[in-house]
Amino acid sequence: MAFSHQTVLLEETVELLQPGAGKVIVDGTLGGGGHTEALLARGATVVGVDRDPVALEAATARLGSRFEPRFQARAGNFGELPRVAVDVLPVDGVLVDLGVSSPQLDVAERGFSFMKDGPLDMRMGAEGRTAAELIAEEDERELARIIYELGEESFSRPIARELKRALPTRTLEAAEVVKRAVPRKAWPKKIHVATKTFQALRMAVNGELEALDSLLSALPQLLKVGGRAAVISFHSLEDRKVKEAFRALVGQCRCPPGLPVCVCGGPGNFALLTKKAVSASEEEVEANPRSRSAHLRVVEKIR
Ligand SMILES: C[S@@+](CC[C@H](N)C(=O)[O-])C[C@H]1O[C@@H](n2cnc3c(N)ncnc32)[C@H](O)[C@@H]1O
Repeated sequence: MAFSHQTVLLEETVELLQPGAGKVIVDGTLGGGGHTEALLARGATVVGVDRDPVALEAATARLGSRFEPRFQARAGNFGELPRVAVDVLPVDGVLVDLGVSSPQLDVAERGFSFMKDGPLDMRMGAEGRTAAELIAEEDERELARIIYELGEESFSRPIARELKRALPTRTLEAAEVVKRAVPRKAWPKKIHVATKTFQALRMAVNGELEALDSLLSALPQLLKVGGRAAVISFHSLEDRKVKEAFRALVGQCRCPPGLPVCVCGGPGNFALLTKKAVSASEEEVEANPRSRSAHLRVVEKIR
């Protein structure tokens, strides 16, 4: 199957990252290579990182022959960029476009979809526990916490209870369990009743917030002076984390007074390039409904 993912906020992201000849940018979520392709086309060198071997293969097939040696694809987690990209650091730009790609959602065997039957897997890479294993191993209380916090699902407790009772191993089975746990009259009108639970399980299985936290705290060491970091998020929890981390980076320097140069490595050394998160235009939302919830925020390391 062709790897087809519609890139969000493409022009806005590329504009803010200011790619050009001689610049090195790490794309921590290579996916289908949509952002990377535009950065390469503007002359930058791009190291594309993804934890999904299918994405790496597809992006390499699409971009490798056209852009080598300026393009390199690497397996890894963007939460570990200080190690994964150690040979190119510090860089002129870092980009992450969070969440899953369309092909990950669309292939039933990957187990992300409540619309298609497949094993209840949800792992973006090959490592770690599947969603079915997570449900079997966590206790009901922890499972409810995951569904409540990561899915912002108000029926987290009955859903967790039913999941522990049924221990589903298939996606459609899990979707049925959620349907049973939520009273019919409380089903949301615009989204499937299992959307939030599936999102929470996916985020927990892949440690998505943990990876984002690690990335955000590594930014001072990842970027050169003049380097920029762009984060596109689709979830209010993620956007809040990005907003707060950027605010802290921009805040006052914490070095003791009188030092000739700053050594605290963070606060005061960054400028916010997006006072408000950038969202998709009406035309983009119409062409790609997934872009509706996208928020782009960018900071620059200024000293
Ligand atoms: C939304 S897609 C990126 C799409 C890409 N920007 C494009 O335009 O084609 C997100 C990608 O990030 C990858 N991903 C998500 N979390 C990751 C992580 N912590 N480390 C590395 N890759 C990750 C997923 O496997 C997926 O391929």
